[in-house]
Amino acid sequence: MDDNKKLPSTILVIFGITGDLSHRYLLPALNEICAAGKLPEEFKIVGVSRRPINKENLFRQNEQNLVQYGEPLQMDVESVNAYENLKNKIDEISSSFKEHTEIIYYLSVPPKGVLPIIQKLGESGLNPPNAKLLLEKPFGVDLESAETLIKETAEHFPENQVYRIDHYLAKEMAQNIVVFLGSNTLFRSVWSNQFIERIEIDAAEKISIEGRANFYDATGALRDVLQSHVLQLAALTLMDPCSNIFDFEEIPARRLAALKSLRADEQEPFIRGQYEGYKQEVENHGSKTETFVSLTIKSENPRWQGVPIRLATGKNLSEKLTEIRVYFKKMAETEENLLTLRIQPNEAIVIQIWVKQPGYERRLQKIPHEFTYNHHFDRLPDAYEQVLVDAMQSNHSLFAGSEEVLESWRILKPLQQKWLATSEDLIIYKPGSTIEDVVKKA
Ligand code: BG6
Repeated sequence: MDDNKKLPSTILVIFGITGDLSHRYLLPALNEICAAGKLPEEFKIVGVSRRPINKENLFRQNEQNLVQYGEPLQMDVESVNAYENLKNKIDEISSSFKEHTEIIYYLSVPPKGVLPIIQKLGESGLNPPNAKLLLEKPFGVDLESAETLIKETAEHFPENQVYRIDHYLAKEMAQNIVVFLGSNTLFRSVWSNQFIERIEIDAAEKISIEGRANFYDATGALRDVLQSHVLQLAALTLMDPCSNIFDFEEIPARRLAALKSLRADEQEPFIRGQYEGYKQEVENHGSKTETFVSLTIKSENPRWQGVPIRLATGKNLSEKLTEIRVYFKKMAETEENLLTLRIQPNEAIVIQIWVKQPGYERRLQKIPHEFTYNHHFDRLPDAYEQVLVDAMQSNHSLFAGSEEVLESWRILKPLQQKWLATSEDLIIYKPGSTIEDVVKKA
């Protein structure tokens, strides 16, 4: 955010304020924005919950700075009449504000509860042009369901009022992919199949499913992380550079073009795994849900033809590590270079270069050169802080557009179909394995 730019007067309505997403991501991010003194001058958080709740209980102990903004609202979201109370609450707050007010609805509710709330907001006239929907994935479970969800949402909120969160897009290092590649001649000039051999994008997690048994068992790694976060990292890596690197408004169209050119490579292994102990954890002894997935995609864009892009993600692995590894071609006279864009943790850009080892003999040595954020900068804002600030500013560039969502499901469709046909190939891996351990088992 431009330091001098004020955020507009905003009413943030959180459905299910006591829900997991709101507690894990949204409220801590609001708390940070508040601590940085960047919240809008006129700001209220309407905390919607089924049970009676007071201002203090809306927030946790360490979020008490937010209490001054809290407006609890007990509401049965399934009852159409209850939306009248919400409307009154919003009218009352906005008439107390001096400036034009933006309204944001954030839905921290189970996936099946999302569309009914959107419909009722629409039917109750709570969808004026200054109202925005801030939505969490999943955006469908396959191409068809995503089409339906998007179409039905659009009946009440036009696309320019919908903000679909893919928080990976808002991670600081993910934003830097575009800026780094766009502004450094050294890399921009070699960013094609002429110089690049292959790319690997990993999103490994050490945590398991963290008590989300019902959600996860019905979802799996492909839909939970690969379809959204990992494919968006691929889009950022492969997209054409913007004409002006800080004109982020150009980015969604470029990401979309990159996604449109991607196909699943059905000749390459499509690996799915499940960690040992998962079935007991979800109390479903016949579960075939994958907690690990790896596959290869390829681009039909002439710039990228012939470059395999291997994607992998999994839970309960040896460490948390999200990174993009770009392997440069070994030429007749040169060695292979490796460029790593480490999205998290310890965000960094690492390049391996070759030098002459000092000494009488003529030997080459590979040396990593590393730019790490924590060495150069103080604090990295959390992705959700950026998401909230951008939603308040009506800036769409770090959100997934409906066409991007559909394209990502289109890429995965052949694999999802293959998957439905057989469930025999599930690999059981030991907690603490690495991605390569699981891939080797296949
Ligand atoms: C979420 C997934 O979208 O991303 C979770 O639903 C996953 O299963 C999480 O753990 C990972 O996000 P982060 O920011 O911790 O890497």
